[in-house]
Amino acid sequence: MFGAALAAAAAQVQDRLAQAMATLPDQPVSHAMRYAVAGGKGVRGFLVLEGARLHDAPPEAALAAAAAVEALHAYSLVHDDLPAMDDDDLRRGQPTVHVKWDEATAILAGDALQSLAFELLTEPVIGPADIRIALLRGLAGAAGARGMVLGQALDIAAETAPAPLTLEEITELQSGKTGALIRWSAEAGPIIAGADPSSLGNYADALGLAFQIADDILDVEGDQETAGKRLRKDAAAGKATFVSHLGLEGARRRAAELVALAEAALDPYGSRAETLREAARFVIARRN
Ligand code: IPE
Ligand code: IPE
Ligand code: MG
Ligand code: MG
Ligand code: MG
Repeated sequence: MFGAALAAAAAQVQDRLAQAMATLPDQPVSHAMRYAVAGGKGVRGFLVLEGARLHDAPPEAALAAAAAVEALHAYSLVHDDLPAMDDDDLRRGQPTVHVKWDEATAILAGDALQSLAFELLTEPVIGPADIRIALLRGLAGAAGARGMVLGQALDIAAETAPAPLTLEEITELQSGKTGALIRWSAEAGPIIAGADPSSLGNYADALGLAFQIADDILDVEGDQETAGKRLRKDAAAGKATFVSHLGLEGARRRAAELVALAEAALDPYGSRAETLREAARFVIARRN
């Protein structure tokens, strides 16, 4: 049931991204951009749409913001897979962008997807300028050197650190690497509606951490075919993760506790937030 709702949201966001990229020049970088946004689960875009629905924000406004965060996330994955970073050849069941094209095209496609994300947030359909600026400023912070880029930098540094990261350090790393974009996604809907985003922000903090714990568990015990990406990479890189610290059982228990916390943060919304509660449960049960 939740799978169908997620797929429907992802399809809508894909259409919006296709529209945003319809007039790009017929160049390899444009083709690589379209390729890179295809095929994800669309969790971040879904969070935007669902947060917007809960606050009765206009669907076209939400869709532009959902497309923006999925473009930004796609950029982060294209760069994450580069030889200088995780050096991966498989993403979403397909060859990574630098394998399918080349490194320069992958770098540029990532750069342009990031620009596209910010361009989408300037769309007048989103609402008054102050709301657009709040979303733009929030996404810039979440994506940059205090957010996702910080998390990625700490993650790369951890590979060569003399001592494995502590659980506290991994939690900090995660809150940038995975948490920041997830938080922005959950808060976007209330921000568009001019409402208080703090309950959905609390939901997203717990959800983001559960999401990364699930990613670490998947890396250890997932099926590569189903996951659509190379697994067993964390241990091979000698990386400390939630699993290396807590063990598989401990990591599963911590993730379940976080899902309960995420669900509790939705109490103010009552039964209207059932789909977001399902999303939280999905995040730790997922196989890809
Ligand atoms: C993968 O994100 C990278 C992490 C931040 C852990 P997703 O699991 O959301 O990847 P897609 O978008 O569904 O491929
Ligand atoms: C990627 O984290 C996070 C971002 C791209 C911000 P990972 O390196 O753990 O993601 P996967 O496992 O390659 O999807
Ligand atoms: Mg990585
Ligand atoms: Mg990676
Ligand atoms: Mg991973």
